[in-house]
Amino acid sequence: MARSYLLLASLISVACAVPNVSRDTFVHVRRDSAPAGFVHVGPASDSQVLTMRVGLTQSNTAGLIDALYSVSTPGSDKYGQHLSKAAVEAFTAPTDATTASVHAWLSSHNVTFAPATPAGDWLKLSVTVSQANRLLNTNFATFKNQATGKETVRTLSYSLPTSLEGKIAFVHPTTVFPIQPFGKNAAFKPNSAAKRAPDAAPQSCATQFTPACLQELYSINANSTGQASNVIAVSGFLGQYANEADLAAFLASFRPDIPSNTTFATKLLDGGVNPQDMSDAGQEANLDTQYAIGVAGTVPVQFISVGFNNDDDFGGNLDILEFLSGESPVPTVLTTSYGYDEDQLPFDLANSVCNAYAALGAQGTSILFASGDGGVAGGQGRPCTTFIPTFPSTCPFVTSVGGTRSLNPELAASLSSGGFSNFFPTPDYQASDVSAFLAGLGSTYAGLFNASGRAFPDVSAVAEDVEIVWEAQFGTIEGTSCSSPILAGLIGLLNDELISAGKPPLGFLNPFLYANQDIFTDITSGANRGCGTPGFSAGVGWDPITGVGSPVYASLRTAVGLT
Ligand SMILES: *[C@@H]1O[C@H](CO)[C@@H](O)[C@H](O)[C@H]1NC(C)=O
Ligand SMILES: *[C@@H]1O[C@H](CO)[C@@H](O)[C@H](O)[C@H]1NC(C)=O
Ligand SMILES: *[C@@H]1O[C@H](CO)[C@@H](O)[C@H](O)[C@H]1NC(C)=O
Ligand SMILES: *[C@@H]1O[C@H](CO)[C@@H](O)[C@H](O)[C@H]1NC(C)=O
Ligand SMILES: *[C@@H]1O[C@H](CO)[C@@H](O)[C@H](O)[C@H]1NC(C)=O
Repeated sequence: MARSYLLLASLISVACAVPNVSRDTFVHVRRDSAPAGFVHVGPASDSQVLTMRVGLTQSNTAGLIDALYSVSTPGSDKYGQHLSKAAVEAFTAPTDATTASVHAWLSSHNVTFAPATPAGDWLKLSVTVSQANRLLNTNFATFKNQATGKETVRTLSYSLPTSLEGKIAFVHPTTVFPIQPFGKNAAFKPNSAAKRAPDAAPQSCATQFTPACLQELYSINANSTGQASNVIAVSGFLGQYANEADLAAFLASFRPDIPSNTTFATKLLDGGVNPQDMSDAGQEANLDTQYAIGVAGTVPVQFISVGFNNDDDFGGNLDILEFLSGESPVPTVLTTSYGYDEDQLPFDLANSVCNAYAALGAQGTSILFASGDGGVAGGQGRPCTTFIPTFPSTCPFVTSVGGTRSLNPELAASLSSGGFSNFFPTPDYQASDVSAFLAGLGSTYAGLFNASGRAFPDVSAVAEDVEIVWEAQFGTIEGTSCSSPILAGLIGLLNDELISAGKPPLGFLNPFLYANQDIFTDITSGANRGCGTPGFSAGVGWDPITGVGSPVYASLRTAVGLT
């Protein structure tokens, strides 16, 4: 399927698509048509109020990225010396000239706006449709999702004054239609026995992975000391609520060694809630909290529940980034088991979000995302003629976690999404591994993927037969939604040990992961089918299904200098 977004850098005439284009504007983003499944209903009501975000061009994104690499690349003399929030904001804040022009533009349209980040690089606007139409020289329309009947106000194209060229990074929501991320409800399979006795024994690991199985499989030989500054943040979107009673039942069976009152803290954003009725428990939210805590023990975990008051349609990622942009210290780990197909997003928005992950990484957060569950066919597996990469996994500043299954040996899970970005080029930290993989692949799949793109995943962990508790029932679940919180727990535990030893947390992981890939368990068998192909195959070295492999905690301890 062809990419649905065309990004036009220069002034062109699109008189058919946008009837009212005056000479002194340029098209910032346009798409040819609404996505399949949406029908145009008619013009949007002039008085409807839209909440929008406008991203301003940062003063020095390149400087931020250099700083990120210098604190994250082993061997650099700044390794581990994470930046303060003020140092990051010196890069991310727009220039005074940019800020003045954008503010003047909004004020001239009587638009109400406020900074969404302390650096002022993102603004939050409240505008009526008629204001938005004049501001963006467009005609917002109502579109209906034919499957759900839900109506949404969007446009296919918008323009900005030429005086703002180079000053605006994104305007959202405009051309992005509401997208259902992957990762909402994995299929829970109840165990035949309704309850389980405390059972830490790994002999059942052939059929069900529990925290004890993961301790064995990944040589996890440490206990958390519960360092307060070391927080694992767990993203929760879309009405997925984490249940404390289910967590208590899970820990009673699988981590009887940690205090029975161990639980997560909750942060509510944008009307978020986290009700504790059993019927509100979410499979995804339970999985994510149970495995972050099940692996990390008493490391503090913060469940972030994003509500629906955001006009975001990007899951809640923007809300979480805005929240964390104001936090100091930042969490040491952020794990998110939701994602999108890269072609569902315009480059400008994806790029700004990716740079926001760089800003968190520079301050010492390890950003983990599940790679997706549709093999080479995107996050949920869709019909395709070319491979579909997933975002945020394709952002070079996040760690994408793919999926494995089974034991002795651990194999690649066929559901594990992996591949190559069409947006972001191959970063240096993976360049030699990716070219070795491509050399082995030869001309297989030529034309189905972008060989010059950022390749993912980076690393992997168990994604099938993972035991959780949901609505007081024990059962198994699958998906890379399992892999990301498992790795988050493991990195959180390592950070706990580092902080206890007076060392900084790991922060942005990828340069370290690729430089130390010989200490990972290389997964060499399995393939991630999709688009009518067998998909990429796991093999010796990095591959786009399991990355550098699965972690070996005891070796990671040594590699980070713990004794
Ligand atoms: C374009 O929009 C401006 C401002 O809303 C309006 O003054 C002008 O008449 C419009 N031009 C056309 C050709 O519709
Ligand atoms: C902004 O508000 C002022 C005062 O109410 C009004 O005169 C002006 O026409 C408005 N401008 C726009 C673009 O709506
Ligand atoms: C962790 O704690 C458990 C239970 O208290 C204990 O059996 C185990 O030896 C500890 N492991 C390490 C590495 O200290
Ligand atoms: C758990 O209980 C212990 C002692 O009973 C108490 O000191 C600790 O603060 C409790 N922890 C939480 C997270 O409530
Ligand atoms: C392939 O990836 C490169 C690097 O990110 C990008 O510049 C290019 O536009 C991509 N090609 C296609 C066809 O998407």
